[in-house]
This record gives sequence, C-alpha cells and structure tokens, in this order.
Amino acid sequence: LDNGMARTPPMGWLSWQRFRCNTDCVNDPHHCISESLFMQMADIIVNEGYRDLGYQLVSVDDCWLSRERDARGRLQADPHRFPSGIPALSDYMHKRGLSFGIYEDYGNYTCAGYPGILGHLEIDAFTFAEWGVDYVKLDGCYSHPTDMDRGYPLFGYYLNQTLRPMVYSCSWPVYQTYSGLTDCNTDTLESMNIAKRSTAALPNQYITVEYLTPWLCCAGYPEFGYFLNKTGRPMVYSCSWPFYQILTRMQPNYTSIINTCNLWRNFDDIQDSWESVQRIIDYYGDNQQVIVPNAGPGHWNDPDMLIIGNFGLSYEQSKSQMAMWAIFAAPLLMSVDLRTIRPEFKAILQNKGVIGVNQDPLGIQGKRIYKDKGIEIWARPITPVFQGHYSYAIAFLNRRTDGTPSEVSVTLRELGLAYPNGYGITDLFDGVHYGTVLPDKRFKVDVNPSGVVLVRCEVIKGSAGAARF
Ligand code: DGJ
Repeated sequence: LDNGMARTPPMGWLSWQRFRCNTDCVNDPHHCISESLFMQMADIIVNEGYRDLGYQLVSVDDCWLSRERDARGRLQADPHRFPSGIPALSDYMHKRGLSFGIYEDYGNYTCAGYPGILGHLEIDAFTFAEWGVDYVKLDGCYSHPTDMDRGYPLFGYYLNQTLRPMVYSCSWPVYQTYSGLTDCNTDTLESMNIAKRSTAALPNQYITVEYLTPWLCCAGYPEFGYFLNKTGRPMVYSCSWPFYQILTRMQPNYTSIINTCNLWRNFDDIQDSWESVQRIIDYYGDNQQVIVPNAGPGHWNDPDMLIIGNFGLSYEQSKSQMAMWAIFAAPLLMSVDLRTIRPEFKAILQNKGVIGVNQDPLGIQGKRIYKDKGIEIWARPITPVFQGHYSYAIAFLNRRTDGTPSEVSVTLRELGLAYPNGYGITDLFDGVHYGTVLPDKRFKVDVNPSGVVLVRCEVIKGSAGAARF
C-alpha cells in the first residue's frame, strides 16, 4: 500500500503469541492482557535498546475489547484491564518515541469472540484515528459467509460440504461490475470450480444467490482500507486477507492485496515450536514464485511473529528464525516476555547485522536457491549495488538432525554471485570476516543441526573497467 508507511518491514512487539487471550488479571496480573503489560514492554523496549535498533511498534492483539460497544456504538477497551483507556495508552507510546498498534477483525467477532468491525467500518476507522493509532492489524474470523470478499466462494464451499449436489448460480460478477470491482477474476474462477464440483453428480437442485451489498462481494479489506485512508491519519494496515482466502481454497489476488495492505499474513499462525517455524519456512520456499515478487517498500509478506526467547526454540533454532525472517524481508514483531528473556535470546533479537539485512532499503525478499538432504541455501539481494551487481545475504540452513555440524562448501558463482572483483564476506552471528572472496573460490561453512550461518556478501567496489563484464 502506497501510503508512505512501512517503507521497510515493521519492527516491534505484539502480544498474541506469548500472552494470547489471558484476561485473568485477578489471578495472573503479570501476564494478562492489560494496559500495564503494554506499558512495561514499552519501558523495556526504550530502556534496553530495542527501540533504537528499530523495534518501534507496541501493538495490542486480540482480547483488549469490552464485550459491548458504548452507547454511541463505538468500540471500547475492557474497563478493568485498561482503566486509563486506549487514548492514554497510545499517548504513553508516543511520549516514548514509539508507535501504537491495535487489533480488530473484519467480521462480527474477533477470533476470541469480542466485537468485530462488520457493520461499523467507518466509525471504527475514525475511532482508531482519534485514538492516535499508528498500526491496525485486521483479522478475518467470523466474517463468513455473507461478509468479506470470499462470500460467494465460501458459500459454495459450504454447499459442497453439505454433500448434496446443488447447482450454484451466482450474481457475483454483476455486482462486482456494478461497483467497479474488476480484480476478482481468479476468485470467480475458483468459485466456478466449486460450483462445477457441486453440479457434476446430480444437477437437479438449483440455488440462486444474490448479494445486495456490492462491497461484500470482493472488497472487505479494501473497504476498511478506504475508511482508514479517509480518516487522514496515516496508519500501517496489516491484513490477514490472503490467509483466510487460502483457507477457503481461493487464490489470493496479490495485486489487490499490495494495493490495499502494508503487510499481510499468508499462512498459519505461528506456534511455539521449531516444527511450526519450519512449516512456515517450507511454505515460503515452496510458494516463492508467487509470494516473493509481492514484497517491496510499503508492502510485505508477513510470516508471523518472532517466537525467539519463549519456550519452544533452542538457541540455534532461534538464530535460524531470525536469519530466515531477515531473508524474507519479514516484519520483525517480537512476541516474548521482555521482562524475563534470557540474554542470549535478547542478543539474537538485537543483532544489528541481521536487522540490517532485514531492513535493507531495496526491500527485495530472498529465495531458496538450493535444497538437498536437509541443507538449504537462501539468497537475498541487498545493498550496496555496484555497476548493476547486488550484494547478497546468504543463509545456509541445516534442517538435519544428526548431532554434528554439516559442512557446506560452495563457490559464490554457484550461488549466482558473479561479480568479478569479488565480495567482502562477514558472518553476521559470529562476526568473523572472511575478507574478499572471488566468485570461483571455494567457500566453506559449518552449520549446526537446526541452525544457520548467515553471511553478508558485499560487492567490492573496484575499478570500473575491471568490474563490468
Ligand atoms: C488469528 C491471528 O492469525 C493471530 O495472529 C491472532 O491475532 C489471533 N487470531 C487472535 O485471536
């Protein structure tokens, strides 16, 4: 989304993965979703150097709301857990040089059952703006079947689920055309496929579905984006749009998504395990032809939160998540208790070299360029660029479980790095400089089990004549 926001991937802290929907402030006051939790995290982010490294966002996830809207139909925070109110919390962040994020859902309810924005889009966008919100994460639970962009396919999906074959006749394109929405053709095709599946066996039932609200055919997320924009307050817009589309077997239309959102989730929620991190890495690698081109300044793929410092990842696995999120040009949204994080995990989150790769101004997402026998090599083009040659971040990822490091030996040319003057190589976790390495020189790394070696390969600016070929 070209709204001047998120020119590099957003960085900050998000409550969900570590603190979930813990609302029991009576028995568990230090871990429940409350204003004091966010204030404490903000203080640590400022006092312990996170903010100055780029982690500038503090964002509330689900479970901040009161069950009821106020008398004027506006959203309100739970009065017991957020006694000062959201404007005061937002102010608290701004006074400390941080930005403030909030969570809502394009549906009747949030995933945890609190009021969603459906039916209140305009008033909610303006409420967020009035509260000084800088970042909105919009989830997609409880938005079916007559809501959001996936109305027709989702209803088709449910028709299919009934196992009774029914002809499915849609008024979808007519309402799209009527409202100037021409972006949904792939979705239409997918819906037709569902309809075809339904009609194949026994075409003796017939259903016509009309949509009276054209926006709902295709445009839930764009519609809320429209209202956010209308407020005049710049806000980062984080969407779960493609994730919910994929869930209902629709093909995301990434052109629409890029034009609508600053970042978007494409895949399952992260869980506190190496298995979950690997599933996300595989999804990004296996679908890279579709996913990677979508990333760039102002619009990012979001593989979900960093779980470094929690319970599920070893030290090596934590470095692997950090390195891969840097290769992915992913938002770096920590979800960890910063009050108790162990120093070695904090050091991973605060690694300047890795953050530098993540925040590279070119905003080009990296790709998997090699995968065999549990060893993967990923490459991301970064600055500086000299005479048309990119520098690169290269991640050597070891998915093997044999209990000894694996040696990986390559030439830079094999990885596609062919700049004749060579590259200055630095290991970003252990800080070792390898000096200048020419494209045909063999280069070796030892990669620990479930670990990574992340190197930065910078083009060496030589004489112009020698460099061009
Ligand atoms: C689903 C999202 O994907 C998560 O990140 C989190 O926001 C939960 N919903 C909250 O209910």
